[in-house]
Amino acid sequence: MKKTWGFIVFVAAVVLFLYLISGKRAVYVPGDAVHAGITADAVCRTCHAPGMKSPLKDTHPPKDQCLTCHKFKKVWKAEKAK
Ligand code: HEC
Ligand code: HEC
Repeated sequence: MKKTWGFIVFVAAVVLFLYLISGKRAVYVPGDAVHAGITADAVCRTCHAPGMKSPLKDTHPPKDQCLTCHKFKKVWKAEKAK
């Protein structure tokens, strides 16, 4: 019986761990002219920094390396190839 409980606790811990690392999904970078062709984070910050045109919310997750989380839509890449 003890073994069974140990197993249940283990499974619950694994499920909880996976839930915690799954996180919130970052929104896509809009496929508009403003965002086309940007590859450097420094460029993102010229608009998405405090006091700039479109600052990030205070609740925004860690702000380093925008493009690790925010992907360009495939649609946009296809547009570019034309
Ligand atoms: C020239 C200014 C400018 C630059 C540079 C810029 N953005 Fe933006 N961005 C905006 C503006 C203005 C909006 C809101 C209007 C829109 O959707 O285009 C926006 C919207 C967004 C959104 C969508 C927000 C939402 O609520 O849907 C994301 C994600 C984003 N930008 C990420 C980036 C990333 C990542 C970079 C760098 C690769 C970047 N932006 C560079 C001006 C800029
Ligand atoms: C760790 C992953 C991660 C990184 C790195 C990251 N973002 Fe985000 N971003 C997110 C998530 C997740 C959301 C959605 C937040 C929400 O819905 O509350 C978001 C939301 C946004 C939005 C929508 C408006 C807002 O403030 O919620 C913009 C614009 C944005 N990010 C731009 C950027 C830029 C520019 C950078 C680089 C300076 C960046 N992000 C780096 C994960 C990330």
